[in-house]
Amino acid sequence: MKKSNYKFEFEVYDSINDLPETDAKLLAKARKTAETAYAPYSHFFVGAAAILKNGKTVTGTNQENASYPVSICAERSLLSSASALYPEVAVETMAISYHNHNNNAISNRPISPCGMCRQSLVEYEGRWKNPIRLILSGIDGKVYVISKASHLLPLSFTSEDLK
Ligand code: THU
Repeated sequence: MKKSNYKFEFEVYDSINDLPETDAKLLAKARKTAETAYAPYSHFFVGAAAILKNGKTVTGTNQENASYPVSICAERSLLSSASALYPEVAVETMAISYHNHNNNAISNRPISPCGMCRQSLVEYEGRWKNPIRLILSGIDGKVYVISKASHLLPLSFTSEDLK
């Protein structure tokens, strides 16, 4: 028997003001996009904005449904749009933000993608053979930068496992 381990490093910034300009612009877009989410049930508004390899920007928001499990997260709505609009073009960096509109809720801590979205992000990293950088933050406060989404899903199940 031998033990194995997994660790990864990510960057922590005190605020959007400490980010390089292109990352700051993308996060600002994600924050703004969050306000246009369709979240009448949870009142938890999530916005994502991504820069693609071709320089285009694509956004996504959570889209909820009266039949709750039909809802889709902002990250996957963005990936679907990007893949539909520019099928062959990799997503380079995705910023994710949110505004919790529930009473007295605070929205100043980064959130990270749910398990289903992590699986989806890993799929597209494989499809486009390109890491997807993540910028995570609330409407203000600290910012996490993760160099590739697959860091968040170690030992993941991928197309390689189907061969
Ligand atoms: N949600 C996202 O869109 N992205 C995340 O990273 C976390 C959660 C959505 C799903 C649901 O519409 C609402 O936030 C509350 O869970």
